[in-house]
Amino acid sequence: MQIYINNLSFAYGIKSIINNLSITLNQGDYLVVKGKNGTGKTTFIKCLLGVNEVKPGTIFFDKTDITNFNSWTKFGYVSQSFDNFNYEFPITVSELLSVSSTKQTTASDRLKLLDKMKIFDIQNQNINSLSGGQLQRVFIVRAMLNKPKVLILDEPTASIDKQNKEFFYQTVEDLNKEGITIILITHSDEIEHLNYTHILTMFDDYTNSFDIRNKGGNE
Ligand SMILES: Nc1ncnc2c1ncn2[C@@H]1O[C@H](COP(=O)(O)OP(=O)(O)OP(=O)(O)O)[C@@H](O)[C@H]1O
Ligand SMILES: [Mg+2]
Repeated sequence: MQIYINNLSFAYGIKSIINNLSITLNQGDYLVVKGKNGTGKTTFIKCLLGVNEVKPGTIFFDKTDITNFNSWTKFGYVSQSFDNFNYEFPITVSELLSVSSTKQTTASDRLKLLDKMKIFDIQNQNINSLSGGQLQRVFIVRAMLNKPKVLILDEPTASIDKQNKEFFYQTVEDLNKEGITIILITHSDEIEHLNYTHILTMFDDYTNSFDIRNKGGNE
């Protein structure tokens, strides 16, 4: 799926957050969105997912204006920070995944993804008993269930250790190699070793810059 963003601006009330942003991403691209706290990274994602309403004519998915778009299962999304995540009733990992699936997803698809994310052995564990790193993997599996074309990950490594981070980035890269478009949001500087194709930098003054990565040189 092609994502075409044409001169997007967005404000909360009078507070302008995104200014004249234009981006084209084709299927299989890997966009890193970086910037300090509060520069508008999550706001941008919410525009892309239709949570923040944008002006018609500013975001298109395969030439369909976002205001007419209705194939949202093409997106997989892992939101920012689930530190305070708590289910009010006991539910296991498998149960959560089965209620999160559309009818095209089979039990075998779910098991394959659990295995790929190396959390096969915790499938019958209560969600509330998982560590931050395990929970994150469960949410990635959940985001992948509907076989999305685009996977969006907001600050995915904030609460996980180095080893889990490496596993995480490797998994993202594998998914990207399978042809899934990746949009990865981070405020950390640990991006040099990532194999991204495009980078969007958001600044404190709510300006932004979008570039294609120059693979030959340094950042
Ligand atoms: N619903 C909202 N209403 C009003 N202002 C908001 C709302 N959501 C975010 N903001 C403000 O918009 C600015 C950008 O917030 P945003 O969450 O997009 O930043 P971010 O780059 O994701 O930051 P972080 O790295 O901390 O996650 C901040 O000043 C924030 O306070
Ligand atoms: Mg954010």
